[in-house]
Amino acid sequence: MDITSVIMVYFSPTGTSKAVAEGIARGIGRPETVFIDITSPGARKESLSVSEHELLVIAVPVYMGRVPALLNEWMRVLRAEGSPAACVVVCGNRAYENALLELTDRVAGCGGIPIAGASFIGEHSFSSADLPTAEGRPDQHDVCIAESFGRKIIDKLKSASELTAVEVPGTSPYGGMTKLWDVDFISVNDQCVQCGLCAEVCPVGAVDSENSRGVDLEMCITCCACIKTCPQHARGMKPGPVNDAAVRLNSLCKEPMQPEFFL
Ligand SMILES: Cc1cc2nc3c(=O)[nH]c(=O)nc-3n(C[C@H](O)[C@H](O)[C@H](O)COP(=O)(O)O)c2cc1C
Repeated sequence: MDITSVIMVYFSPTGTSKAVAEGIARGIGRPETVFIDITSPGARKESLSVSEHELLVIAVPVYMGRVPALLNEWMRVLRAEGSPAACVVVCGNRAYENALLELTDRVAGCGGIPIAGASFIGEHSFSSADLPTAEGRPDQHDVCIAESFGRKIIDKLKSASELTAVEVPGTSPYGGMTKLWDVDFISVNDQCVQCGLCAEVCPVGAVDSENSRGVDLEMCITCCACIKTCPQHARGMKPGPVNDAAVRLNSLCKEPMQPEFFL
């Protein structure tokens, strides 16, 4: 089967899912690729309809072994009746658990046919210079693998007379935690110049644009986009459960995981 265009959707607070999605797009190699970044709250208000002649690729990070819960609402309005789809999860070198199964199930629930799935590795959201976990990933090798995954999706589409859903690892009910910590974990030092970038990059609008120290703890999803984007390096983690998790990840998740494909 042939497709008319590629719709590449990603949610990517710290940019690793985006980098993987871009690698996959290069491998797919179609000039008619439309990138839809659903990281900002405004972008998730737009509904999306994908036709059966378009390939949908969706890349999201793994949060607690699951698809980030804030994407549920957006996925409820996604329409992909009969569209071939590739589902991609990006984890921080701990585990992706049931996230890939959950994503393929969600896409199927919107009418899509998940013909391919993959897991990739991105620098952990909680990683820092002092406590690195999967630092610098996806690296050049990961990006080459993402490109090859893109080529394989196209090969599969070309050779398929009829679309069949792929099987991916995982169990349902998915379990795990979808409610994230609502803890005051972000420290802001005197280097902060109130430039407002932290508020701009926050995917849930939790940072006050007038006062960077003002974080709505109920809304914050601990994605660390504000910490990682701060040009002054003014933001960091206070001692507490999120920092404890960063310490644990740094000591327990050193063995580099490798991307996996399901086609
Ligand atoms: C709240 C939260 C939970 C996470 N849970 C997991 C997890 O269960 N397994 C894992 O390997 N990485 C986990 N991560 C790390 C992210 O999946 C990983 O860093 C990913 O590359 C971030 O994607 P992004 O750069 O597109 O935001 C978690 C990150 C956050 C913020």
